Amino acid sequence: MKANELRQKYLKFFESKGHAVIDGASVIPENDPTVLFTTAGMHPLIPYLLGTKHPSGTRLTDVQKCIRTGDIDEVGDASHLTFFEMLGNWSLGDYFKKEAIAWSWEFLTSKEYLGIDPDRLAFSVFAGDADAPRDVEAHDLWRACGVKEDHIFYLPKENNWWGPAGITGPCGSDTEMFIITDKPACGPDCSPACDCGRYLEIWNDVFMQYNKNADGSFSPLTQKNVDTGMGLERTLCILNGQTNVYATEIFADILAGIEELSGKKYTDHDEYTRAFRIVADHMRTATIILGDRRGVTPSNVDQGYVLRRLIRRAIRFAGQLGMPDGSLGRISSIVIDQYKDVYPELEEKRAFILEQLALEEERFDKTLTTGMREFEKLVARLNGSRIDGPAAFHLYDTYGFPIEFTLELAKEKGFEVDTEGFAACFREHQAKSAAGAEQRFKGGLADHSVETARLHTATHLLQAALRRVLGDEVKQKGSNITAERLRFDFSFPRKVTPEELAEVSRLVNEAIAADVPVVCEEMPVEEAKKSGAIGLFENKYDSVVKVYTMGSFSKEICGGPHAEHTGELGTFVIQKEESSSAGVRRIKAILK
Ligand code: ALA
Repeated sequence: MKANELRQKYLKFFESKGHAVIDGASVIPENDPTVLFTTAGMHPLIPYLLGTKHPSGTRLTDVQKCIRTGDIDEVGDASHLTFFEMLGNWSLGDYFKKEAIAWSWEFLTSKEYLGIDPDRLAFSVFAGDADAPRDVEAHDLWRACGVKEDHIFYLPKENNWWGPAGITGPCGSDTEMFIITDKPACGPDCSPACDCGRYLEIWNDVFMQYNKNADGSFSPLTQKNVDTGMGLERTLCILNGQTNVYATEIFADILAGIEELSGKKYTDHDEYTRAFRIVADHMRTATIILGDRRGVTPSNVDQGYVLRRLIRRAIRFAGQLGMPDGSLGRISSIVIDQYKDVYPELEEKRAFILEQLALEEERFDKTLTTGMREFEKLVARLNGSRIDGPAAFHLYDTYGFPIEFTLELAKEKGFEVDTEGFAACFREHQAKSAAGAEQRFKGGLADHSVETARLHTATHLLQAALRRVLGDEVKQKGSNITAERLRFDFSFPRKVTPEELAEVSRLVNEAIAADVPVVCEEMPVEEAKKSGAIGLFENKYDSVVKVYTMGSFSKEICGGPHAEHTGELGTFVIQKEESSSAGVRRIKAILK
């Protein structure tokens, strides 16, 4: 089975069961400051799982680009990837366990689809606890499909509960599907819960009927949903009987490209295997991030920082393989060619992707030069031959000089490095940033709080006011909202004058004072265009879109959520206007 065949089969199957095939969302969540990247197919659908009506209906299916970089240091083993595609189907308060399980069974076993031998399939269901009952229903439904009793396992929450994606939000018990491999059971208690390798998970059906609250309790959602996820790379690997994801067709061209540029051969088990895999994985992910419709550039914060780490790690391991300067662009081109039919934005942004990679290579080169100079200064000051942990960490933290480089240079010059001390500083630093991330999360839009909805409404008013004052060439380039402030990026060639900003604020506050209702209507995208609604038309939209209108002031295509009346917004205050990038300005504003 090939990747494209699997994508097509999945979508076709669920289309035949009444699901609308929708476009996957950006890997960079829109108006959601709580997470850096889209991590699951359900993520962009959270408002709809919570009860907002989706313009395409109550049965949806798609392929979603997902990024999970929590395990970036594990990349290089047989299974970790920082980018993967998730095949998914959803019931938004429509069907529930009965249909979900029957269809999963049909897709897995039918000759027309995956055609897996039923004897090689195993299933886990939720064992029940104080929060939710034992899922006898799911068990019985699998039995009704013909599954043998000893192929079904009741497992606890740590195995059979999924979500929320963040700290709060929709979640529920799940039933997971596994391929039984040729590996013998590891003992009498061998089950899908152990990682001995006998059971490999390929699919997850989550029965999302609870909301996890900030205090840790669970309350029932207004609707019962189904959220499923099948990892494309993993499933291909298992279906084709391969032992690791890098052996799949997905990595064939990329690894061949690295072989050609490095003059080394990729095998599953030698000193270069890890470097090959890291370059392949990181370049695939970096290309997807740069080539996203909401793509970012390398920087020191947020998504840009993750992107920078991916690119710089790829450069380091490319160096280990002896790949010449400029190799990254060649590998990235292979990734673009491979994915451009599935994600056309990659082709559209090809020049941008390659340019950004080249720039980051240059910057990293400079960092290394500075780092080496600082290293020289450091050793010149040393008493003895040992570089202590904090000093090595300083090189890393302040100059971005990778610890591997410090170790290498130290070795060459006969110095020792206190790696344990370095690790301790590193852990301390990580704990601090994790605490920061948690804080960020708590203030987020995933709660769909009143504050973020109000700021989101203010963003629409701001865009309308900017267009009135500066002209229609003003177009939204980005938006980011926390509970405290909004940030709006827009195309405009010069600094906005204080007088113009004052006029923009005045107009927004006038619209707030008018206290007009925020009206939401659904209509086909063509009609929305004709009605004069603004929005990112170059983006792929579903055929039906939501249009939010605020009096005669603003009409914009958007997914929500919003305040109900503009009067709820209070007083709008612009705090800052600055350059964001060439031809793009940024405004930060608050509501008082
Ligand atoms: N959201 C579920 C997962 O990511 C389907 O596994």
